[in-house]
Amino acid sequence: MLQKLADVFHRQVLGMNRRNADVIYRNHTRKDFTVADDKVVTKQLLEPAGIPVPQTYAILHEIRELQEAWERIRQLADLVIKPANGRAGQKILVLKRTDDGWETPGGTHYSAGAIQRHIADIIYGTHASGAWDRAIVESRVVAHPFFRAIYEDGLPDVRVIAYEGTLVQAMCRIPTAASDGKANLHQGALGVRIDLETGRLGQGYNYEQYHPAHPDSGVRFAGRTMPAWDAVRAISLDVCDLVPLDYLGIDIVLDETQGPLVMEINARPGLEIQNVNRQGLREQLTALHS
Ligand SMILES: Nc1ncnc2c1ncn2[C@@H]1O[C@H](COP(=O)(O)OP(=O)(O)O)[C@@H](O)[C@H]1O
Ligand SMILES: [Mg+2]
Repeated sequence: MLQKLADVFHRQVLGMNRRNADVIYRNHTRKDFTVADDKVVTKQLLEPAGIPVPQTYAILHEIRELQEAWERIRQLADLVIKPANGRAGQKILVLKRTDDGWETPGGTHYSAGAIQRHIADIIYGTHASGAWDRAIVESRVVAHPFFRAIYEDGLPDVRVIAYEGTLVQAMCRIPTAASDGKANLHQGALGVRIDLETGRLGQGYNYEQYHPAHPDSGVRFAGRTMPAWDAVRAISLDVCDLVPLDYLGIDIVLDETQGPLVMEINARPGLEIQNVNRQGLREQLTALHS
């Protein structure tokens, strides 16, 4: 019986080879992927179309732009600096003003000089094996009280998977003590099922077991309904219309004052969402494609 269930799940689960060959690369050229892989390009596509994203304060292409841009950046109390071509949180600096400079959520102090060095490192591409990059300076998103009531630290996000313009699965990723405030499942964040129709949260999964409540705060989330769910859906569908890719992972954060904002688009979204939702993607995608 168990073997049978495992066989059924195995047939329904989308694996990485099939995802890459049949779903992601099937209809596309390399250029199509820059829309997701380059965060400057993503913003340039979404912002003019009226899709909400964190406010862009500056984009730096060259070290020589730093001096002039710094006059504006130094006025900012809250800001985030990140590389256009970064991934997995590399080189992302989240900063809040203090009396004598800025600090990260973990309490590391940053002086003006340290921030400028960070920007220069991004431009020189020290995170990207020496390939030059651009540094994005943007507004800092503050987690919505709905999520802060579940767990106070870090910034949770919503991942929506879309295929050929249809939303197929969703989850939110809630940081934990193990993930050190990060919303990355590989680092120990909790992936929580979201019902696509209603925005209702289900169980959370952390590679070990399913949880109805947050393992650190003890707050129960299963059964609660996400605020602004209709807006999250509408934004995801608008992104599908704009982006020239069939298969997409859309990451949306819920800001305490601005509501849903698109944080990034992934052309090769991870497959763990199938475990979070206990639902294989393969059949869903095949059904949509036929
Ligand atoms: N504007 C922002 N405000 C607050 N936190 C941010 C912001 N941009 C990025 N972060 C933090 O950095 C993480 C990774 O950012 P993201 O843009 O998704 O880049 P990556 O491609 O490295 O995943 C986010 O999940 C969030 O925790
Ligand atoms: Mg990300």
